[in-house]
Amino acid sequence: MQLRDAIFTRRDTRHFTSAAIPDDVIANALAAAHAAPSVGLSQPWRFVLVKSVEVKQQIKALFDDANQKALRQLQENERAEKYGNLKLEGILEAPLGMFVFCEQPPEDEFILGTITQRDTLTWSVACAIQNFWLSLTEAGFSMGWVSIIDMTRLSEIIDVPANFHPLGYFCIGQPADDYQGIPMLERDQWAEPKAGPWVKWV
Ligand SMILES: Cc1cc2nc3c(=O)[nH]c(=O)nc-3n(C[C@H](O)[C@H](O)[C@H](O)COP(=O)(O)O)c2cc1C
Repeated sequence: MQLRDAIFTRRDTRHFTSAAIPDDVIANALAAAHAAPSVGLSQPWRFVLVKSVEVKQQIKALFDDANQKALRQLQENERAEKYGNLKLEGILEAPLGMFVFCEQPPEDEFILGTITQRDTLTWSVACAIQNFWLSLTEAGFSMGWVSIIDMTRLSEIIDVPANFHPLGYFCIGQPADDYQGIPMLERDQWAEPKAGPWVKWV
């Protein structure tokens, strides 16, 4: 697959088959993530892979709590019913799950490039996540980003150092639906994508 095809066919996936993910698919995706650009060559990405059904169930419970909160926020809104019908995760179905963290270095550690924008560390991890996603896509697999989780409650589930800041939880596996080649939120008429990027030349 050409890079361009991977970029344009990559989808956020919430529907998975039960097919196992070959070890080399994950190894290649992790290698691609590790080749991402990072501020000051800090490479602050940290990955926790989740196979345990029990841990997945705990994550799903956190998702359900947060999703109920989102629904309550929409309560009086005509979109509440539509929101309730969207499938926004595949936590229990996906054969593999993954938390991705940004390890925050000590405040007094000098990291080239972070002096004015500390968030550059987090953005570096987002670059790694995209590489991981494209690598999965190239191999015929995919993942879905789950941000509807109260990450302050993560310590109830897994033990990671306090300076590991979570970017999200990811459901990984073989897609069971290609959403007709467009974002699922577009297919399900939740959101309309913009025709192109906002660009200004000066
Ligand atoms: C930071 C981030 C958080 C996201 N969180 C969720 C989520 O919690 N649940 C979900 O269903 N999709 C989530 N998505 C996926 C987006 O909805 C999706 O990328 C967008 O609709 C475009 O679809 P596509 O990725 O298939 O092109 C998230 C995406 C990003 C980049």
